[in-house]
Amino acid sequence: MNAAHSKVRRHYDEVADIYDSRYDRNRGRLYYSRLSENVLELLPKGKHLLDLGCGTGLFIQHYGKYGGAATGLDLSPGMIHKARSRCRMGQFAVGNAEILPFRDESFDALSSLLAFSYLKEPESMIKEAYRVLKPGGVIAVVTLGKNLLTSGLPALYAMGEAMNIRHVGMGDFGERYYSESEMNDLFFKAGFTDILIRRCSFAHINLIDPLYGIARKIEPFVEERFPYLAYNLLASARKPG
Ligand SMILES: C[S@@+](CC[C@H](N)C(=O)[O-])C[C@H]1O[C@@H](n2cnc3c(N)ncnc32)[C@H](O)[C@@H]1O
Repeated sequence: MNAAHSKVRRHYDEVADIYDSRYDRNRGRLYYSRLSENVLELLPKGKHLLDLGCGTGLFIQHYGKYGGAATGLDLSPGMIHKARSRCRMGQFAVGNAEILPFRDESFDALSSLLAFSYLKEPESMIKEAYRVLKPGGVIAVVTLGKNLLTSGLPALYAMGEAMNIRHVGMGDFGERYYSESEMNDLFFKAGFTDILIRRCSFAHINLIDPLYGIARKIEPFVEERFPYLAYNLLASARKPG
């Protein structure tokens, strides 16, 4: 683990007890549900899922409603501790998503929500995902996409860190946002097929009122007609076989 990983890990250990108040309450729950429903639609249900950067286990809890088994991996022991108490059906481990401690062809499905932007070696994560998926297995990743609205976020987060603001995700972590073609290349080079990339979610949790309410009303229209304005990229693909 390098210094960048240690910094992310320290941050998520520090915010583990307030994480769910951001993504599992009120507006955060609506924002998160839209992302997780989109990911769920793409994955085979009732199978064995690996969730990378699983945090407090929110997505594993959603996946578990359809039965099956799930394994979660995260850099932060604090987040893993929360995940273990949330999801009795899951197996959890502390580790780096770029080097997976699992055997080849162990999982039917692989997900990663809101964690990919932290990776220093995204190619390694995608290659490892390919290795641990069974032939025919599906991967789905949600991560902030590159657009005008997200271009200012790293500066904002760095400022927040300088001001010592304790807030989930607030810090200078050298986060990286991707374009459709960059995500496509990563999957393609690793050997995946049936690659699908689209944008989702316009009503971002950080928007202030009344902008949030308006954004939520027009979200489906924006996703369809002006996808470039949506914040997240949803990328999925299949391992041949
Ligand atoms: C914004 S949280 C998302 C958590 C969870 N996926 C969810 O949807 O609620 C980002 C998570 O990614 C984890 N993370 C960041 N880099 C990682 C890495 N290289 N390997 C494993 N986990 C990582 C962090 O520790 C944190 O728990």
